[in-house]
Amino acid sequence: MIKGFIFDLDGVITDTAELHYEAWKALADEMGWDFDYQVNDKLRGISRMDSIKVILEHNNTSLEEDRLAELATKKNDIYVASLENMTPDDYLPGARELLTHLRTEGYNVALGSASKNAIKVLAQLNANIYFDVIGDGNSVSKSKPAPDIFLYGADKLKLQPEECIVFEDAESGVDAAKAGGFHSVGIGPEERLGHADLRFDSMSEATLFEIKSHFKDLF
Ligand code: G6P
Ligand code: MG
Repeated sequence: MIKGFIFDLDGVITDTAELHYEAWKALADEMGWDFDYQVNDKLRGISRMDSIKVILEHNNTSLEEDRLAELATKKNDIYVASLENMTPDDYLPGARELLTHLRTEGYNVALGSASKNAIKVLAQLNANIYFDVIGDGNSVSKSKPAPDIFLYGADKLKLQPEECIVFEDAESGVDAAKAGGFHSVGIGPEERLGHADLRFDSMSEATLFEIKSHFKDLF
């Protein structure tokens, strides 16, 4: 029986993918690296340090670990500054409605994000009230596609993976949910999320009614 929901943050609750893109792009331009939306899409769900490695690989180049960390910090400073402009108007359409519905129905809800800035993003959105547990980039060491962040959330909610539905916009996030034995809902295109148990193009379609209709044997 489904008792809980675990939400990814970036790309599910709010569209930070664009802000991440702008920050990586500013760094890439400064460094003379090629970087576009296609590469940015590969960074969905993966950690900051793994992200910079993907960008370097795309540019057929490599750097010392120390220098990588320095440049990742530089990108993060640009990203964090851009979060100052985020407000409670910046939920993806449908996200706040679903979170509110889950609250009124009494479900357990956790955040399962790879971001070390998740607390800041939740504060900007005023979204803390919707979560019983916050799992972020500081909670576990192995990032998606490892299932650790979702297992952390389920454990803190005192639920088994099969009692939870994970919401994800990243290919690596759905991989992580599956690896952990969770049910999965993908938010985004078929090419990226065709392997999710249920998929919607956007959060505005992801109503509790639709979810219950699909997973009807589990409610
Ligand atoms: C999320 C985003 C990724 C980002 C990661 C780390 O999973 O989808 O694009 O790289 O978080 O974010 P951070 O805020 O810690 O740099
Ligand atoms: Mg995401």
